[in-house]
Amino acid sequence: MIAEVAPFQAIAIGRLAHELAEQGRDVIHMEFGQPSTGAPVAAIAAAHRILDTDPMGYWESTRLQERIARHYRDSYGVTIASDQVILTCGASPALVLALSCLFAPGARVALVRPGYVAYRNTLKALYLEPVELACGPAERFQVTAEALARLDPAPDGLILASPANPTGTIIAPEELAAIAEVCRRRGIRVVSDEIYHGISYGLPTLSMLQELPDALVVNSFSKYFSMAGWRLGWLVVPPDLVGAARARMGNLFLTPPVLAQHAGLLAFECRDELEEHVATYARNRDLLLDALPAMGLERIAPPDGAFYIYTDVSHLTDDSLHLCEALLRDTGVATAPGVDFDPVDGHRFLRISFAVSTPLVETAIARMTPWFNARGGKSRR
Ligand SMILES: Cc1ncc(COP(=O)(O)O)c(C=O)c1O
Repeated sequence: MIAEVAPFQAIAIGRLAHELAEQGRDVIHMEFGQPSTGAPVAAIAAAHRILDTDPMGYWESTRLQERIARHYRDSYGVTIASDQVILTCGASPALVLALSCLFAPGARVALVRPGYVAYRNTLKALYLEPVELACGPAERFQVTAEALARLDPAPDGLILASPANPTGTIIAPEELAAIAEVCRRRGIRVVSDEIYHGISYGLPTLSMLQELPDALVVNSFSKYFSMAGWRLGWLVVPPDLVGAARARMGNLFLTPPVLAQHAGLLAFECRDELEEHVATYARNRDLLLDALPAMGLERIAPPDGAFYIYTDVSHLTDDSLHLCEALLRDTGVATAPGVDFDPVDGHRFLRISFAVSTPLVETAIARMTPWFNARGGKSRR
């Protein structure tokens, strides 16, 4: 039987948003999880130079692998060899490589619900079995060591993300250590998606490699580095999986774009500019956390990182896709329906991405407030 892979519903909202924009409507894009800023200025300048001088064949940058290995030492105190870093075309192929290196078809891989839509669908495409752990605000939408220990039988694997999409919540250091302990004890292999590292509002973002040296770590230039369309990311694998991961990368994807690899190397040196983006997200987060309760959107787990707020809208609808469409048509504010992240309970949630400029967040709030208030304002719970 061919695996069934569901489409992103947010794409339908994105399409409608573009249609409305073409009709002359002023649309604020808060539906997609991508920074509205471009790549760092110095990275773009490097790319211009490379375009004029480099023939751009298939290529993997050893300097970038070394720079990423250094990043693990400097940021996490973890020593890895540069050949443990596989450069990929973003986190998405890194996830495919990680799962296909670790698991045979039929393996059971745990993940939290709500979670990033592609986890479930990538597992299915690889004929792996998603084992969903339903999480709510009580667990701050994150996996706990206790829930993992209770799974019977033990899953073969675990995908975790901290900060997470769609909630932005971070697993606290002691909980991460407890999760690692359960994984060690029960033989569960971990794929840690660390794509939102660097975007945090106070809590530390620890790498799973600090707890579990045989974890596979996925990361990317799409979020902190603001380079989603450049399609560049990486996978860290333990030494015994370097050959398997390289073979898969070479056969399935060849190499990441040359231009992006040159620009990515430069982006590591653009901390000031990138930290400015994080400061903008922090301001946007505060504005929204302040404004949303007055609209009746008060059942929220405040995000510790990333640039999302996942809010319960069950007092208004049991069809969040429909609610997102109505909000977009009436106000021009595009958001994402929760069903992408949670096929069971997501119809009661929507996700607001605040990776846009602060003036746009202010405008979105000014438009959303009367709209939600006209629908009852305060939630009934
Ligand atoms: C949690 C998470 N992982 C992976 C990805 C895919 O990222 P990339 O653009 O690096 O493929 C995304 C994109 O939104 C994401 O939110």
